[in-house]
Amino acid sequence: MRRITTLAGIAAVSLALAACGGNAGTNGGTETQSSEGANPWEGDASQVDVMTWWEAGSEKLGLEALEKVFQEQNPDTKFVNAAIAGGGGSQAKQKLSADLANKNAPDTFQAHAGAELTDYIDADQIVDISGLYDELDLKSAFPATLIDRLTVDGSIYSVPSNVHRANVVWANPNVLKEAGIDTEKPPADIDAWIADMEKIKAAGKTPITVGMAWTQVHLLETILIADLGADGYNGLFDGKTKWDSDEVKKALTHFEKIMSFTDKSLHSEDWEPAMNPVIEGKAAYNVMGDWAVAAYDSQQKKAGTDYIYFPVPGTDGIFDFLADSFTLPKDAKHPGGTKAWLQTISSKEGQIAFNKVKGSIPARSDLSDAEKGEFSEYQQNAMQSFGNDTIVSSIAHGAAVPVKVSNAISDAVTKFTETGASVDDFQAEIVKATQDLGK
Ligand code: GAL
Repeated sequence: MRRITTLAGIAAVSLALAACGGNAGTNGGTETQSSEGANPWEGDASQVDVMTWWEAGSEKLGLEALEKVFQEQNPDTKFVNAAIAGGGGSQAKQKLSADLANKNAPDTFQAHAGAELTDYIDADQIVDISGLYDELDLKSAFPATLIDRLTVDGSIYSVPSNVHRANVVWANPNVLKEAGIDTEKPPADIDAWIADMEKIKAAGKTPITVGMAWTQVHLLETILIADLGADGYNGLFDGKTKWDSDEVKKALTHFEKIMSFTDKSLHSEDWEPAMNPVIEGKAAYNVMGDWAVAAYDSQQKKAGTDYIYFPVPGTDGIFDFLADSFTLPKDAKHPGGTKAWLQTISSKEGQIAFNKVKGSIPARSDLSDAEKGEFSEYQQNAMQSFGNDTIVSSIAHGAAVPVKVSNAISDAVTKFTETGASVDDFQAEIVKATQDLGK
């Protein structure tokens, strides 16, 4: 069986384990050989077509920060922005799959470290770039827990630009106070959180917001983590935890209850418009990855006064992980440009500039204390959690399951939330959607 480390029983590996690596430097290093022997980088370096879904709002600002460093480091390579709108890659992944099938590949594309990459590897659409890891000394620059999730049958196919945390509640402290909720003491578990949502509803505000399908899957996965714990949640992907179990049913029932507190008119919105009511003081909570920091920053909102954040109740000490990672497609027209891009995004300079704006933390674990000090309070906190917490992998963001499975889960979730089917029917659909996992 192919080895891709996704979940099972992986405890946090301290960042300290990763030894210091040097700055990846700028374009133009020595030639890199892939493990197959051919030089995958040979070819046009005059431009690089970069496909992401960082097309709008606060996400676009992150990409622009990265582009700036890229152009400074590679003045002779033109950056071509091939971004496709839609948070979570909701539109991009479909277009990408068609482009790859039609041999119309971009020079590099955003994907998630982990199971999602297996889709492209199985279809023989991306290239083993392990040689670049040796050339740039990236195996010692990234923490072992990340290298593990990037490795498939001993090979690595992408370079991560960042690490995001998914299990975060973003809350409006004023809305909580109006409802008589202690903002210093987050609820201990999902039941206590639901009790607080009842108070907010009674006070006349929307307790929690959620948007389109992928944001609903995102919310669901964090409830699964809360109710099953890290080991139980990890077991969902290797067959040790049964999707038709009572524990899963409990989580689905919690999800049903929490969805009943949401504003249905937001269910077709992307993540940023769906969380705006929380930022504006019309709603209390939103569960979102820490790209939310970028949304607050772009509206000049301050942590502590304008917003507070805490792990989804019941997931304290667990880091629901995902990383954006960039590839070299087999049919890239400008592989020299791709190499330049991967060097920039892996460099300290690129990672610092990008992550400061994006809300995520650098994938590199060799930042000095002074460099870490340049990040926001939230991000410094996330760096510590990533080093100390138990790491689990995100479903909604491709770390835990292949695209096919996350799409099937997403269909089951929207069928449930839009038709008001029973929890039993919902569970049966989810069982069907996940039937190939762990085989
Ligand atoms: C995730 C991605 C993040 C952010 C988010 C919202 O899948 O990893 O970087 O872009 O979607 O669009």
